[in-house]
Amino acid sequence: LKVIIINGPNLNLLGRRQPEIYGEDTFEDFMLHLKGKFVDSDVELSYFQSNHEGELLDKLHEVGWDYDGIVLNAGAYTHTSVALADAVAAISTPVIEVHISNVHKREAFRHHSYLSPYCEGVIVGLGLRGYELAVQYFI
Ligand code: DQA
Repeated sequence: LKVIIINGPNLNLLGRRQPEIYGEDTFEDFMLHLKGKFVDSDVELSYFQSNHEGELLDKLHEVGWDYDGIVLNAGAYTHTSVALADAVAAISTPVIEVHISNVHKREAFRHHSYLSPYCEGVIVGLGLRGYELAVQYFI
């Protein structure tokens, strides 16, 4: 089972960026925890992060037919990108949208997602646990 976690813009700053909202863990540390957690399942976990919309599109195209699951936190592009929505709609691998923070408790511009209509499910507001639950779902 091949599952990839894809993080969008500013998520490379996790641990340093507004820790009161996004927590104090870096994603690299969290990935180590996650890989340990699923070491006995037959899941092959990979991770990609980019601050560039086009690179996120390229990655979705690359994995979108070969992988069994995509866990996508597109960051702010969630609220702006028709191109990412089109990519999620185009590929056959199911996508779970994850947001660390509860976007519905925050500014109104974070309440709408272009991606959600094309995702299998959405997990918001559960911190980094959301990624873990999404991987667990694919397993
Ligand atoms: C986020 C929420 C977005 O609104 C924001 O732009 C992010 C992170 C989250 O994980 O809570 O960059 O996707």
